[in-house]
Amino acid sequence: MENFTFYNPTKLVFGRGQTEQLPSLIPEGVKRILVTYGGGSIKRNGIYTNVMKKLSDNGYETFELSGIDPNPRLSTVNEGADLCKQEDIDFILAIGGGSVIDCSKTIASAAKYEGDAWDLVTKQATPEDALPLGTILTLAATGSEMNAGAVITNWETNEKYGWGSPLSYPLFSILDPVNTYSVPKNHTVYGIVDMMSHVLEQYFHQPTNAPVQDRMAEGILKSIIETAPKLINNLESYEYRETIMYAGTMAFNGILQTGYKGDWATHNIEHAVSAVYDIPHAGGLSILFPNWMKHNLTVNPERFKQLAVRVFGVDPTGKSDEETALQGIDRLRQFWSSLGGPTHLAEYDIDDKNLELMVDRAMKRGPFGNFNTLYDDDVRQILRHSL
Ligand code: NZQ
Ligand code: ZN
Repeated sequence: MENFTFYNPTKLVFGRGQTEQLPSLIPEGVKRILVTYGGGSIKRNGIYTNVMKKLSDNGYETFELSGIDPNPRLSTVNEGADLCKQEDIDFILAIGGGSVIDCSKTIASAAKYEGDAWDLVTKQATPEDALPLGTILTLAATGSEMNAGAVITNWETNEKYGWGSPLSYPLFSILDPVNTYSVPKNHTVYGIVDMMSHVLEQYFHQPTNAPVQDRMAEGILKSIIETAPKLINNLESYEYRETIMYAGTMAFNGILQTGYKGDWATHNIEHAVSAVYDIPHAGGLSILFPNWMKHNLTVNPERFKQLAVRVFGVDPTGKSDEETALQGIDRLRQFWSSLGGPTHLAEYDIDDKNLELMVDRAMKRGPFGNFNTLYDDDVRQILRHSL
């Protein structure tokens, strides 16, 4: 392993009815709260009414930023930051999935920054202060509820980047699995693909002797694989929603990524695809990840074999490491596709017309990938296989 420091300050408040804790989680002295949310799911499932009542019963003055889009945009971040400055907001409460939380994290820093929020996202400036932020998670997928990352899209330049700051950790996140009952099947599946991809990005690393992390990663993957097919046939099962919600948080709250750097190349390529075509993040991952795996198989076939045997139950007897590994990759592809995950970019009407633009956007910050460094020709090949 490499040396590491692990610190995660987010207070996780998990379980049925935990929204009741909200007033006691908001720091003392807070008076003016900006409540942020997406396109209206929280109004349809009753979360909005419940939370707003709690806030007003406890004497908070509330302001709202609604309509945060999936793949949240820079323009919304700047709008939110202006609102915070004008209204002297002292706390942000984000209610939603990764898009609402990421947008809100970026607003929290941009509200304390004089320039354009894009400077923060592109890391040309480092935030020195941020508004405190709490979240109520409504969709299990990204892990944003307990990490310091945020992903923002600039539609003027077709760029989508992840950024992060220690100031971006939510102060608290409330995770009530009941709040995810209304997530439709397609977004439930995207969430499952996303969290599995986060584990896989970290599973493929260079440093050796990480058996604890490997087994934790395999445990999360196996729990998801056992639960996901049952959940998509029973979207209102508390038990299944609970397992998937906890898996999503544990997949990407930093606990797995200790002692090594994860690869993260597939995420970088997917962000380039989403920046050009605005497709759901995990729709892209479902297509790209198996192709990234095939492309990099020879870097360390034993690692791919370990995944195939331990997680996908492939019998290695009489097979080369590469054959075993390939069978594991096929099983991953089949698993996602059995849930309804896409397998080709053509399913989103994406052909090779903008292939070079996607390659360019993926390469914008130079070669990438910690398990194996990818250059433009690698990205081109992975995208071609994904068409
Ligand atoms: O906008 P509303 O009406 O709320 O509807 C949303 C949205 O249409 C809906 N939804 C959410 N909770 C619901 C619900 N519908 C019914 N009932 C509920 N309880 O689901 C749709 C998708 O929501 P979104 O927040 O976009 O999904 P997700 O959580 O997958 O977030 C995706 C974004 O996160 C970024 C992605 O790139 C993408 O921009 N990521 C963030 C990461 C991070 N911060 O660590 C890591 C990830 O790898 C990822 O890149
Ligand atoms: Zn992701």
